[in-house]
Amino acid sequence: MLLKEIKTIFQNELAALYPKEEIDAFFYAMVEHYLGLERFVLVVTPNITLTKEEEQPLFEGLMRLRSEEPIQYILGEASFRDVILKVNKEVLIPRPETEELVAWVVQEWGNREDTSSVLLDIGTGSGCIAIALAKALPSAKVYALDVSKKALEVAMENATLNNVEVTFMLADILAFDAVPDVAFDIIISNPPYVRTSERPEIRNNVKKYEPEQALFVSDEHPLLYYKAIARFANAHLKKEGSLFLEINQYLGKETKAFLEEHYFTKVELKKDIFGKDRMLKALK
Ligand SMILES: C[S@@+](CC[C@H](N)C(=O)[O-])C[C@H]1O[C@@H](n2cnc3c(N)ncnc32)[C@H](O)[C@@H]1O
Repeated sequence: MLLKEIKTIFQNELAALYPKEEIDAFFYAMVEHYLGLERFVLVVTPNITLTKEEEQPLFEGLMRLRSEEPIQYILGEASFRDVILKVNKEVLIPRPETEELVAWVVQEWGNREDTSSVLLDIGTGSGCIAIALAKALPSAKVYALDVSKKALEVAMENATLNNVEVTFMLADILAFDAVPDVAFDIIISNPPYVRTSERPEIRNNVKKYEPEQALFVSDEHPLLYYKAIARFANAHLKKEGSLFLEINQYLGKETKAFLEEHYFTKVELKKDIFGKDRMLKALK
């Protein structure tokens, strides 16, 4: 079958679920991933014909897209800043907002003469934050923890693939356990923060496929993780160390107020590129 005919099938089969541009992006991403053909090749040679074997992964991918599975899980990889990460259903797919949080840390710490800082990423998932920071701040010593053993396996593989050294730990931040007595310059976290009542706002592909444990908190205790992280950071941050947090866009003021009332000064709230309250920085 002609490749351009398969492109038309993608558009027809997926039109009810995704915008046209997104379908094209899925199609080109799969063609590049499975066939090694870049988008411009299809433009200059529109009549490429595929064998049955070559068609097969594209049609399998199409079926999975119809079930609203995220493209990153289908391809098994995601990009985050300058890093390519393996992802599967055990880990959250890294988000652009989190890239902005990492950029903030690099902006604040990257120019310091002594970047041999000690960092901790709490709730590391795919390892995206820890690995991107290990690359951006090469003399930093980077630690990362998660409560999910399966997520840590993915994160460890990603550190190896990206040639960086990160010390991973299996630990439950809510139980305040098992972290060696290390003093950190920076603690950074993107913890679960979506309230159960916000579920209707969340897209199906997220709800059906991404790990619940990475996303949701109860409406009764929306700051559960922030309180635990703040307590932990108070005990483990060096004097004048910094805490960087991704936050729920609706809870910026509450989260900032909590940090100001407990342990921290100079708490700064920052919006993401969409103008939503999305990050906090605080000094011990
Ligand atoms: C929102 S995801 C963030 C993943 C990754 N850091 C990122 O930014 O894409 C939250 C992560 O926290 C982990 N987590 C949930 N509860 C935890 C706990 N009690 N202690 C440590 N990690 C936890 C989840 O397994 C998940 O990997």
